[in-house]
Amino acid sequence: MKYNFDKLINRRGTNAIKYDFSIREGMPEDVIPMWVADMDFQSPPAVIEAVIKAARHGVFGYPSNPYKCFEAVYNWFSSRFNWNTEYEWLIQTPGVVYALATAIRALTDPGDSILIQRPVYHPFSNLIRVNKRKLVNSPLVNVNGRYSIDFDDFEAKIVENNVKLFLLCSPHNPVSRVWSKDELNKLGEICLKHDVIVVADEIHCDFVFQGRHYMFASLKKEFLDNTITCTAPSKTFNLAGLQAANIFIANKAIRDKFKEEMKRSGYSHINLIASAACQAAYKYGADWLDELNLYLEGNISFVKSFLTRKMPEITLSDPQGTYLLWMDFRKYKLGENELENILINKAKIWMNKGSMFGVEGKGYYRMNIALPRSLLYKALEQLSSAFGAI
Ligand SMILES: Cc1ncc(COP(=O)(O)O)c(C=O)c1O
Repeated sequence: MKYNFDKLINRRGTNAIKYDFSIREGMPEDVIPMWVADMDFQSPPAVIEAVIKAARHGVFGYPSNPYKCFEAVYNWFSSRFNWNTEYEWLIQTPGVVYALATAIRALTDPGDSILIQRPVYHPFSNLIRVNKRKLVNSPLVNVNGRYSIDFDDFEAKIVENNVKLFLLCSPHNPVSRVWSKDELNKLGEICLKHDVIVVADEIHCDFVFQGRHYMFASLKKEFLDNTITCTAPSKTFNLAGLQAANIFIANKAIRDKFKEEMKRSGYSHINLIASAACQAAYKYGADWLDELNLYLEGNISFVKSFLTRKMPEITLSDPQGTYLLWMDFRKYKLGENELENILINKAKIWMNKGSMFGVEGKGYYRMNIALPRSLLYKALEQLSSAFGAI
């Protein structure tokens, strides 16, 4: 391997939310953080160099329009996903969550219904609530750790609630599903039939371990015209702290509404350093990502075999995509507080409690496995000895 993902990097004392807020959150000082979705790996060398170059220049005035960045992004999606975008579709925002909030306000009114599929990335629910829209849930169906969509329920909920917007998570966080072409087509057709605009959050598109990822808007011209596609280099290249997302909206009427809403919040362009990092990442980061994915696949296999051998009580959802594993602890028959206490204070690992993704996640935990294998090994050993005594 050209890149060393085994290297342990001390992130404590660097204002990293994953590490530096453990004590404030009531965690033991030596807890291993496996929660928020960032990675304990350095970004590709070309990205670090681009950031240093921009910093050394030392003049940090307003950046110009991001055509060069677009070219790099264009080539990435064209070569890896066979999706050809256009410059005018691109709007850059400081993050995908910001874009989701903007889309909600731009395309719906207070009281309007927005559909999500829980358990799902928790800001989906929060954004709907804080923007005073109505949350409509069509829960995913879990059969022996494999999640699927109940299309009849999905359509019925749309009709019953006069849903205006659907927030699609693809690949799906936290259940690690990579949606098939057939599933995406079915969702898309139902949304077209009932005039539901799709906001496709595809931030995890570069982490796929089974099957392949289809950009939702690439499947059909009509889907493209009905979709806001949210992408970002932040998960792929570990750049979340730089805050840059690339949002594609082909439909001019929808794009204008989105831009108008951005104007209302006073936001105009992403920062200079983030733009340099984004460009370098998409231009030079492919081989780094390919190696990273092999490493993550190794981590996933390691967790799978560890659980099978030592903790068969835990059911792991089929890990098809994302670096987040969805673990079912319900066979232990523990109360929520008791389970949390064992994980934090005995196993000393900090994961996301499943119920934060919706009540459907009660008894589950989301584990972030984007960390050096030696640390992953330590975490699993701690987990198994904490539960060994139960
Ligand atoms: C599905 C999904 N969307 C969005 C985000 C966050 O995006 P951003 O940091 O660009 O707001 C995450 C981060 O974990 C995520 O999992």
